[in-house]
Amino acid sequence: MIDLPHDRLMALFEISHRINRISDLQTLLNEILHSAISNIGAERGLIILTDEERESFHTVASQSLEDEDITFSKSIVQATLESGQTSLSQDIKSDVRFKDTDSVQELHILSFICVPLIIPETNRPLGTLYVDQRAGVKAFTQEDVAFLEAFANLAAIAIKNTSTMERIMNENIRLYREVEKKYEFPGVIGQSELMQKVFREAKQIMDDDCTVLLTGESGSGKEVIAKAIHYNGNRKAKPFLAINCGALPETLLEAELFGSVRGAFTGALDKQGLFQAAHGGTLFLDEIHHTSEVMQIKLLRVLQDKEIRRVGGTKSTKVDVRLICATNEDLQKAVQDKRFRQDFYYRMNVVTINIPPLRERHEDIPLLAQYFLEKYANEKKKSIRGFDRKALGALVKYDWSENNVRELENEIEHAVIFAKDSETIKLNDLSDKLKSSAPYTREAADLLTDEEGQPLTYDKFEKKYIQSVLSRVNGNKAKAAKIMGIPRSTLRGKLRKFGLGQ
Ligand SMILES: Nc1ncnc2c1ncn2[C@@H]1O[C@H](COP(=O)(O)OP(=O)(O)O)[C@@H](O)[C@H]1O
Ligand SMILES: [Mg+2]
Repeated sequence: MIDLPHDRLMALFEISHRINRISDLQTLLNEILHSAISNIGAERGLIILTDEERESFHTVASQSLEDEDITFSKSIVQATLESGQTSLSQDIKSDVRFKDTDSVQELHILSFICVPLIIPETNRPLGTLYVDQRAGVKAFTQEDVAFLEAFANLAAIAIKNTSTMERIMNENIRLYREVEKKYEFPGVIGQSELMQKVFREAKQIMDDDCTVLLTGESGSGKEVIAKAIHYNGNRKAKPFLAINCGALPETLLEAELFGSVRGAFTGALDKQGLFQAAHGGTLFLDEIHHTSEVMQIKLLRVLQDKEIRRVGGTKSTKVDVRLICATNEDLQKAVQDKRFRQDFYYRMNVVTINIPPLRERHEDIPLLAQYFLEKYANEKKKSIRGFDRKALGALVKYDWSENNVRELENEIEHAVIFAKDSETIKLNDLSDKLKSSAPYTREAADLLTDEEGQPLTYDKFEKKYIQSVLSRVNGNKAKAAKIMGIPRSTLRGKLRKFGLGQ
């Protein structure tokens, strides 16, 4: 144990109290440095922290040191880190260790102490605490070293704890943002009136426990909305779990949902089901139309009794789970055709929210396209920022009826990978199906061909051309003639010839 006089022990005790209450790393480091300097009557000081491999060090706090002093003290720091031992020099100028160091004469340093900041359990130095005095002041003593070593032990623990805390907090904030970005309504893109209506409906039932049925074509965003409901509602702290009812054979789906008891069927294990795992949260049953009648009866029972029984089990367990179901089928029709149980249907669709197909909300396309562009450009470290007018026009015009938003997302991801220009996505970077639907090409092709796609005669072409120009300028003949580059009287003559009304 270090032999320290009473007043120094008291000082140590007091500082330790103070620094352990600081929760922000930078404030802590400044306070440690300040306490060290004032308690041993040093003039200047420096704290350097290093990484695990001791490859780099960073000055994290310094007081009164000039740049060239820092360079000099870094050589001392390095030696201290390597040896793990305190370094004291009472008179640098006569210190044999520095006789070859040119700068020592100019620095006017009389005496310094450099102690490693060591965490007791790992014995690994986190960094060092360095203090010095310039000429004309009394040199440091062994007692100063003892004090500073004891102090450094306290400081190392406080630094470790605070930086761990800070890292965890930052990680938490990052994760929170991530979740928020993804699942908060603002992260779900939709400016169109149709999507705004979806958001309003979703907000209304967010905090309720009622079962929700989400309908909409494949890729239209049913799962996105289900997550938005969960992560904004009062169940957000509990799990959101999803399963595709069409992806598993009946027995496995049942075991997956309700859990199983070992040996209940070939290969069955003692396993908790999704209903239990989602307790307190939300379970998303995708493609609910794929469930069998027997399964629908079982699900209906869970909705009524709020308890489940594992496959092969005898005991019932209470579960509190909100169900959100999704389908791209017309369930009402399935009920009429007796392909879906009516009782379950009514129980399930207390609230139905329909997600409209993308082709009915073209105004969302530019926003979605930009959103996916940024997402993939970031992910793939590309500098692409936007679309040129033709490319965006083609995206907006396309009908996306195969896979809706998912199809748009794939298109953009593909374009980001293969774009030839590093800044913008051009029509040529889009897939063939998009190119042929581009507004101007379609219009141009229409102009040259009849309904069967056959080339037009010159007369028919001219008539179609005039009609097309007129429709662009809302029938304004003066403007049309100007675009065509012919006198107005000539245009009037042609209109008469083709019997195009006045
Ligand atoms: N409104 C939206 N805003 C942002 N991304 C969306 C939106 N709608 C759908 N997506 C994205 O499109 C893809 C398909 O959405 P998803 O919810 O899985 O569709 P569905 O469940 O209807 O098949 C997902 O990658 C999803 O992130
Ligand atoms: Mg889906």
